[in-house]
Amino acid sequence: MTFDEIIAKRRSIRKFKKDPIKSEDIEAILDAGNKAPSAKNLQQWRFYVYQGEAKDKLVKFILDEFDKISNKPGVSKYARYSFQIMDEAPVAILVYSAQVMEHPARPDIQSVSAAIQNMLLKAQELGIGSLWICDVLYFDETIMKHVGAEMPLLAAISLGYANESPASRTRLTVDDVTTWFE
Ligand SMILES: Cc1cc2nc3c(=O)[nH]c(=O)nc-3n(C[C@H](O)[C@H](O)[C@H](O)COP(=O)(O)O)c2cc1C
Repeated sequence: MTFDEIIAKRRSIRKFKKDPIKSEDIEAILDAGNKAPSAKNLQQWRFYVYQGEAKDKLVKFILDEFDKISNKPGVSKYARYSFQIMDEAPVAILVYSAQVMEHPARPDIQSVSAAIQNMLLKAQELGIGSLWICDVLYFDETIMKHVGAEMPLLAAISLGYANESPASRTRLTVDDVTTWFE
């Protein structure tokens, strides 16, 4: 697959097969994340990787905790769907920032986001489907306390073999999003 094909064919996958992913593929995905650029080269990303029983227990906790807050104002009831997807996928990765940079533009979040995107693209190259999930942020502190992580949770990633082939989602054109100066 060419680089352009990897970018063009990546989709958010929301139906996964149960088949496990080989350890070397998970390691290659983590390695791609770890090669991202980062603010001040601080490499702020930290990955907690869950598979098997550990993943099942984590997702059960997340689903149970979500049910306690799902009626609160500002919480989307559709978030539960994200956690059901996490339940289906064989691998869940919780992604943290090890160093909060206090500028409103949060360079640490930008660094971690670059790592996540590298991971999704590497997964695509390996034929592995992925979903970037921020719905965990509705109760990030509860999850952090549960897993014993003393740094902010920024996202979760589900990985697994896709059980669907979604069409490309609508996109603005490059002209829509670009202002040129000469
Ligand atoms: C920061 C971020 C957070 C996201 N959070 C969720 C989520 O919680 N649940 C979900 O189903 N999709 C989530 N997505 C996936 C987006 O919905 C998806 O990327 C978008 O609709 C475009 O579709 P595509 O990835 O197939 O191109 C997230 C994507 C990003 C970049």
